[in-house]
Amino acid sequence: MTAGRQVVDPARDLAADYSRRAAAYARYWAPVIHPMAHPLLSAMPLADAKTILDVGTGTGALWPLIQAAAPGARLWGVDGAEGMLRAGDAALRGRVAVMDAQWLGIRPARFDAALMLFVLFHVSDPDIALRQVLDVLRPGGILGLVVWGHDPGLPGRDIWTEELDRAGATPDPRDQSVMRHAWMDTPEKLTDLVERNRFAAERVWSGRFSHAFAVDELLATQTQCGLPSRRLESLDADARSECTGRVRARIQRLAPAEREYRVEVIYAIARKRERATAS
Ligand SMILES: C[S@@+](CC[C@H](N)C(=O)[O-])C[C@H]1O[C@@H](n2cnc3c(N)ncnc32)[C@H](O)[C@@H]1O
Repeated sequence: MTAGRQVVDPARDLAADYSRRAAAYARYWAPVIHPMAHPLLSAMPLADAKTILDVGTGTGALWPLIQAAAPGARLWGVDGAEGMLRAGDAALRGRVAVMDAQWLGIRPARFDAALMLFVLFHVSDPDIALRQVLDVLRPGGILGLVVWGHDPGLPGRDIWTEELDRAGATPDPRDQSVMRHAWMDTPEKLTDLVERNRFAAERVWSGRFSHAFAVDELLATQTQCGLPSRRLESLDADARSECTGRVRARIQRLAPAEREYRVEVIYAIARKRERATAS
């Protein structure tokens, strides 16, 4: 063993980070991103679906919306972060399990539809995850995906970077080398990803969203579940509070338009293709 070298498992670190911040995620981040899932759910042909698997379901906060799009369906969910599932409400009890999208322990051809909403870019091998989802879908089953397109980051990101650097905070501990945004951040890339994993892309498109942050809401999001929250943890209490105070003063001076988060979202609806039969 090499002395002094920390062994890190990025997937386990990601799950632990989500678990720890589950309550903050549900309170601050989920309301910002969930309106962005509406276009997918309203475009998916789910009216006749009887069984749906939500992969990376998190706290299941989108279940009411999924259920509204698929009133006759029973929902199940899996997520790598146990804390996210535990933070969900009673509707999740008995219907969710801790599972990595790359190793789904589920009987094949079990589901009419699967969803991966703001998840696939987190998975270190998206091809393996898509093949796993393919296996659990019945023939002709449908998959819905939502991932990020162009994302400039939350407003005030550069202010946070300057102030965290000035305070001597360590770099973001999240291992960016396993983040796969760049593999799927355009309709063309997402189409290629699903098509090479035996899905037929029925519709792939992008949408633009904006969210006007109030100062307190933005700071709470960033200090409790955003990138700054992870760097702030490397500072002692005094340095943390001084750094946050400096950022607050600067963010308060931003014009409302500068506090607007503008982001692109990529959607895909894809159907499980049948294996070509030998003639
Ligand atoms: C941005 S959250 C989205 C949660 C939920 N789909 C929603 O829209 O509210 C990403 C979720 O994906 C989960 N996740 C990330 N990588 C995963 C993996 N390899 N297997 C299963 N879940 C994963 C995280 O634990 C987290 O709950």
